[in-house]
Amino acid sequence: MKSNPIELPTTTNGNLHKPLINTKHFILPITTLALLITIHLYVGNFSDHPLINPATPVGDSTGDDDKCNVFQGTWVFDDERETYYTNETKCIIDDRQNCMKYGRPDTDYLKWRWQPDKCDLPEFDAVEFLEAVRGKRLAFIGDSVGRNQMQSLVCMLASEAYPIDVTNINDTDIKRWVFPPYNFTLVAIWSPLLVTSRDPHPEKFSRNSIMNLYLDEPEEVWTSELDNIDIAIFSAGQWFFRPFMYYEKGELIGCHFCNQPNITEISLYDAYQRAYNTTFTTLLDHQNYTGLTFLRTFSPQHFENGEYNNGGNCVRTRPFTKQEMRLDGYKLMMYSTQVNAFKEAQKEAEQKGLKLRLMDTSNAMILRPDGHPNHFGHPASDNKSFADCVHWCMPGPVDTWNEFLLEMLKMEGEGFIEKTYQRNTTKLNLR
Ligand SMILES: *[C@@H]1O[C@H](CO)[C@@H](O)[C@H](O)[C@H]1NC(C)=O
Ligand SMILES: *[C@@H]1O[C@H](CO)[C@@H](O)[C@H](O)[C@H]1NC(C)=O
Ligand SMILES: *[C@@H]1O[C@H](CO)[C@@H](O)[C@H](O)[C@H]1NC(C)=O
Ligand SMILES: *[C@@H]1O[C@H](CO)[C@@H](O)[C@H](O)[C@H]1NC(C)=O
Ligand SMILES: *[C@@H]1O[C@H](CO)[C@@H](O)[C@H](O)[C@H]1NC(C)=O
Ligand SMILES: *[C@@H]1O[C@H](CO)[C@@H](O)[C@H](O)[C@H]1NC(C)=O
Ligand SMILES: *[C@@H]1O[C@H](CO)[C@@H](O)[C@H](O)[C@H]1NC(C)=O
Ligand SMILES: *[C@@H]1O[C@H](CO)[C@@H](O)[C@H](O)[C@H]1NC(C)=O
Repeated sequence: MKSNPIELPTTTNGNLHKPLINTKHFILPITTLALLITIHLYVGNFSDHPLINPATPVGDSTGDDDKCNVFQGTWVFDDERETYYTNETKCIIDDRQNCMKYGRPDTDYLKWRWQPDKCDLPEFDAVEFLEAVRGKRLAFIGDSVGRNQMQSLVCMLASEAYPIDVTNINDTDIKRWVFPPYNFTLVAIWSPLLVTSRDPHPEKFSRNSIMNLYLDEPEEVWTSELDNIDIAIFSAGQWFFRPFMYYEKGELIGCHFCNQPNITEISLYDAYQRAYNTTFTTLLDHQNYTGLTFLRTFSPQHFENGEYNNGGNCVRTRPFTKQEMRLDGYKLMMYSTQVNAFKEAQKEAEQKGLKLRLMDTSNAMILRPDGHPNHFGHPASDNKSFADCVHWCMPGPVDTWNEFLLEMLKMEGEGFIEKTYQRNTTKLNLR
């Protein structure tokens, strides 16, 4: 049996739009590099330090008071807890997140479970999940941290069903698998900015090259798939930190770190907000899309002891408590920008009968500085200067996102996506 039938969308040539699919041996690709590099170069002070006088944690961003919010809680040590899979499980674990394989010595980071304040988050049950998504098509749309969750899901399902790769050979940015006994289709769509981007000088691509970003143009790679998606999980964030020229209606409206005095600087949060607005507007206006839509919130990184490029790393071996750490600074800005865009769209979505859900993982993940690969995402013999404090070890706390996913699917109730379900067309053409 092949041990790794699943190839990953990834990029190695530095071009956002041309992921290399058949790469068996990864070097740290520019995707990750750009992620690691762009994050903080431009954001200023970014090292995490435990809080001395914590303010109140970021508030509840979903739901009402009497209903349990599964996203508010604490990490609880559970010595008995077993991982859903290991580095020996036949599933894809990207080497760069395979902390067991590369000899991460501590194992306590695998033993913490998420305990919501007012209820429990059930353990993941692969059969229950596969029954919930039987006959459905689930798409992860976004960047490499979204891919991290997708791969975690495949591994969490591996005990019960094994995916068959059904990728169309002509698709470079879309990977597809089917889990035969359940006729469940899993799709991974590479769209790290969600809106269209173009590098005016692709041959000179670098982390500092200035790309064009068309804030009102959703990326076609995912819009063209909407007719075929029942559940969509959107996530994007880290790529927005790089330099950009921003366009709307085809016209240059400003830039971010372009270093040209005649061009207006636009806040990256503003651009981030617009990109999400465009994404939600597209979903709302697309008559054939009746899917259940999740926005998975910003995934915080945890560089300490320096910046990403001068020795910054993430060596902690236990979570923070809520008293020690909370979202703040630019992480809080990214998070609240996203949540605000979501809330704005949700009002409209309710009227139009489109189901938008917030998978509000940021507050849990800010507490997990111990969950990243650090230097255990490559052989110790590779002299890599950058630690990865952005992605998440597999297994590891990222598996909790799929516990949330199953719980949220169950909250939709039986038959959460009825094939007979109709959008309210009365309102569809109002804009
Ligand atoms: C799994 O990890 C262990 C150490 O935790 C290591 O000894 C073993 O070689 C790894 N196996 C694979 C297939 O990576
Ligand atoms: C499998 O699911 C797809 C939609 O995801 C559906 O079109 C197809 O008819 C299903 N096949 C079977 C055999 O149920
Ligand atoms: C891939 O593209 C080629 C050339 O356009 C076409 O002939 C072929 O049918 C395509 N294959 C699939 C599986 O779509
Ligand atoms: C800004 O100035 C640069 C160099 O002076 C010029 O190349 C560019 O076209 C100008 N851009 C705009 C939008 O005016
Ligand atoms: C919706 O589906 C119909 C029938 O398949 C198709 O003709 C139409 O072009 C689709 N509309 C959009 C916006 O994709
Ligand atoms: C997008 O932004 C516009 C302008 O701020 C706002 O009127 C509209 O409701 C937003 N749409 C969505 C789907 O959030
Ligand atoms: C690792 O690389 C850095 C610079 O890239 C170099 O200064 C250092 O000497 C190298 N260390 C080893 C053990 O090769
Ligand atoms: C559809 O929207 C219209 C206009 O807001 C509203 O009057 C009607 O009750 C809605 N229909 C359904 C089935 O929700």
